[in-house]
Amino acid sequence: MSSALTLQPGGPLRGQLTVPGDKSISHRALIFGALAEGTSSFEGLSDGADVAATRHCLAALGVGFEDHSEGLRVQGVGLQGLKAPAEALDCANSGTTLRLLMGVLAAQSFASRLIGDVSLSRRPMGRVAEPLRQMGAEIGLTSERFAPVQLQPARLRPLDYVLPVASAQVKSALLLAGLCAGVPVSLSGALASRDHSERLLPDFGVQLLQRPDQIGLQPQPLQACALKIPGDFSSAAFWLAGALLLPGSELLLEGVSLNPTRTGLLRALQQMGASIEVQSQSQQSESWGSLRVRSGPLQGIQLDEAEIPFIIDELPLLMLLATQAEGETLVRGAAELRVKESDRLAVMADNLQRMGVQLELFEDGFAIRGPQPLQGAALLAHHDHRIAMTMVLAALSARGPSRLQGAEVMAVSYPGFLADLSRLQLSEEPLL
Ligand code: S3P
Repeated sequence: MSSALTLQPGGPLRGQLTVPGDKSISHRALIFGALAEGTSSFEGLSDGADVAATRHCLAALGVGFEDHSEGLRVQGVGLQGLKAPAEALDCANSGTTLRLLMGVLAAQSFASRLIGDVSLSRRPMGRVAEPLRQMGAEIGLTSERFAPVQLQPARLRPLDYVLPVASAQVKSALLLAGLCAGVPVSLSGALASRDHSERLLPDFGVQLLQRPDQIGLQPQPLQACALKIPGDFSSAAFWLAGALLLPGSELLLEGVSLNPTRTGLLRALQQMGASIEVQSQSQQSESWGSLRVRSGPLQGIQLDEAEIPFIIDELPLLMLLATQAEGETLVRGAAELRVKESDRLAVMADNLQRMGVQLELFEDGFAIRGPQPLQGAALLAHHDHRIAMTMVLAALSARGPSRLQGAEVMAVSYPGFLADLSRLQLSEEPLL
């Protein structure tokens, strides 16, 4: 039974913060490490429940893990070394866990079953099952579309596939299926989505053909490696938004991933007139840097549809920011938002309307004309971590108290969110 969190309007956010490790990179590091030859070592992994779900599933498949002072060691079993799990693998709320493991498990010589929570069991799985079936995989979906997913042993064939939807989870699942089955995979079509698998696989010794219109993989083993995971831009995004919403704020966010396939919100905010200084720190397979943000006025924008995959997880925040920006913000081409941890267009519209906002909702986007005052209200997280954190910020910038039902779901990606929030609200520390 979830409890309600009472939230009062809040003052400025000030100080310095290192956000938790990138969730997308953490899932991939664990899975690639599990399939590699030798022991990998990862520093700075996400401490959220989603990545914990990936670890538990891999442990149930016979992969050994060892926590140590600097991070986690993963004892890779190689591409042929996974063991049949004793029971169904519980992916909890994590779409990345379930979809990437579909690719791995479709190519095994044992049967397995993937399950998830109520939110994950409503999300479409046909987008992964369909190309895997073209490879010869034997996959049963619930009602032909959903988890639980049943996988039978199968020998897979090579795949040449044109992706119909931009999805990093689909891309990654198919590359994993090719690696585990030892068959070539060629992907084309909607390739523009986060590219962490393409950047990380070479760290594990896997060479990919990478062109703007094609990704090609030849069968090859993975070698263990040591990695430091950058901070999650999607977590930093809450602080960028919080600082812009609460007058008098100034924050320095350090060690954040600045992979351009993730930083669409940064580009959108700069276009809206936000004051954000970006300092690049390192440029390994993933790029990192720091972000300094100060509160200030924003102008509405019309978001370029080509940017949608690179801002997809931050669009709830953009909806909130649009209520405070001068003029209209228009987003179209974002129907994917309806099949995330919740129908993010519908639940954001509902929560903002509860706060008194007027907006126009489309099947694939929204139009909001600002600025509009936010009134404290009874808000709902809908089993969705990003909605929960977005609505905490909305409540802080509202007039009057709010109550948020289901706030504990924040632990999916950012267990320390409320602790970091209270530290930044109290902080008087000078910024470097
Ligand atoms: C993710 C990919 C994205 C994103 C999700 C995490 C990943 O979904 O929304 O939160 O780690 O691969 P798509 O598969 O739709 O790109």
